[in-house]
Amino acid sequence: MTPGEERTALPEPFATGPDGVTVHGRPVAEWAGRFGTPLYLTAEHRVRENVRRLRAAFAPCWPTYRILYAVKANSNPAIVRLLREEGCGADCSSAAEIRIAREAGVPAAEMLYTAAYPSDGELGAALDAGLAINLDDPALVERLFRLGQPSRLSFRLNPGPTEAGAEGLRFSGRQSKFGSSLGAALRGYRWARDRGLRRFGLHTMPGSNILKPRHFGGVGRFLGRAARRVARATGVAPEFADAGGGLGVPYRPRERPLDLNRTARELTDGLRREGSPAGGFELWNEPGRLLVADSTLLLTRVTHVKPGPPNFVGVDAGMHTLLRPALYGAYHEVYVAGAPRSGPRRRTIVTGPICENTDVLARGRYLPELRPGDLLALGTAGAYGFAMASQYNTRPRPAEILVSPRGARLIRRRETFEDLLVGVPASPRPRGRP
Ligand code: LLP
Repeated sequence: MTPGEERTALPEPFATGPDGVTVHGRPVAEWAGRFGTPLYLTAEHRVRENVRRLRAAFAPCWPTYRILYAVKANSNPAIVRLLREEGCGADCSSAAEIRIAREAGVPAAEMLYTAAYPSDGELGAALDAGLAINLDDPALVERLFRLGQPSRLSFRLNPGPTEAGAEGLRFSGRQSKFGSSLGAALRGYRWARDRGLRRFGLHTMPGSNILKPRHFGGVGRFLGRAARRVARATGVAPEFADAGGGLGVPYRPRERPLDLNRTARELTDGLRREGSPAGGFELWNEPGRLLVADSTLLLTRVTHVKPGPPNFVGVDAGMHTLLRPALYGAYHEVYVAGAPRSGPRRRTIVTGPICENTDVLARGRYLPELRPGDLLALGTAGAYGFAMASQYNTRPRPAEILVSPRGARLIRRRETFEDLLVGVPASPRPRGRP
């Protein structure tokens, strides 16, 4: 194998072989032909499997473990419904996410609304839905209570600097816009207790895409200490401790998957070491990425090749379809989705049609010679993929399909020109000559 030829492994039910990339044994090219490109293709099986793997790791370590899917990672209602079928609750960050989760059948008791700099309207929507509310800043508690009393209340705690999969994915430390110190939160808990609330939880979300189990041991110890302090300050034991998301997935060829069994042991040992008996409160995780990232490929067709060096391969997806590479320098594997090509490989930049120089999907990849019409697949595209897609350069957003052994189902149709102008009042036709 020449340098750069190693590829990130695709999980079941995806595979690579003589037919190119397949899902449940059928070439993904079939679905690209039927639904067009760019196309987000999600394998239902992998989403279910991810929930089961996570639950199997944690259930033996903590009897009251609960998974609240972070809807922001992929809010397609069909995906949220699938996760509900697997028993997930929902972590919501907006009024619309609350509505999608409710309509997917998630009961309010299994939902959390995490408010970062919320408007009164959003706090009101969360109160009306009756779910637990997680405040980013204890100073918000008075405003919240003026609007109404939440069923349960928690504060997002900032544990100070910790790990993160990339600088843009660090949510802790003094430079972070998120969370508050435990000291400030304790004042918020006491204030709410003095107004009659008795149902509390605690929350932290220090960073995203973390592949080291040891990090989660630190999260467990931090939450364990915080639980003790909250119980002492309020006189009531917290009902839940939410360890956030952050469970990482391998995007690059040499990254190893997060060891979920070790992660579960580290986190729960950390809690116990700080005096929290197993099951004393519910332990929650709110993963987004881990549940959906590797369930999805982004299929895209080559539109034009500009040989270099550097060798540019243009495709019909771009930063408007998958923003992560442009925003975080994120790596997504590039697979030739049709039949494999022999011949020399060239160092290639895969770029989109957007009028920005940052519109790059992949850099420095060794790919065979490609021609317009060839199909490529970008890997691990299910989390923060469609969710961060835009209509920039006035381009319709792509279609999404859900694939099972029975076939493919359109779960969001491709946008049309008319969709781009939704909400724009019809303007009078220009009269006369220009
Ligand atoms: N809970 C809260 C309060 C969060 O803010 C997030 C993610 C999650 C849970 C889910 O985290 P996960 O399990 O996915 O690490 N756009 C970035 C990711 C930003 C994550 C924002 N918050 C990306 O494309 O990597």
